Amino acid sequence: MRKLCEINDIPLGQARGFSVQGGPILIHRSEQGVRAYRDACPHLGIDLAWNPDAYMDLENRHIQCSTHGALFEPTTGECVFGPCIGQHLTPALIEIKGSEIWG
Ligand code: FES
Repeated sequence: MRKLCEINDIPLGQARGFSVQGGPILIHRSEQGVRAYRDACPHLGIDLAWNPDAYMDLENRHIQCSTHGALFEPTTGECVFGPCIGQHLTPALIEIKGSEIWG
């Protein structure tokens, strides 16, 4: 594992992308904490963002698949709208060490 960033580098309600061993991941930060998922839609396996770090919908409420508009709950990874409704983003392994995120 290596240090990816400081927790505060990810604004509340936002997500950032990182490359780790095993492929790209996204890390989302909210009042409920920090969650990490593989950057792959559960139904086709393609990247979610259309631009680097562009993971959220316009309201910053959901993680969004930029290709088909599927929406995912940031805290659970569950798809709540779109072709993969009911499926989940795959959690990715990260560690919080003090103020740092490692992955
Ligand atoms: S690839 Fe699954 S909703 Fe876009």
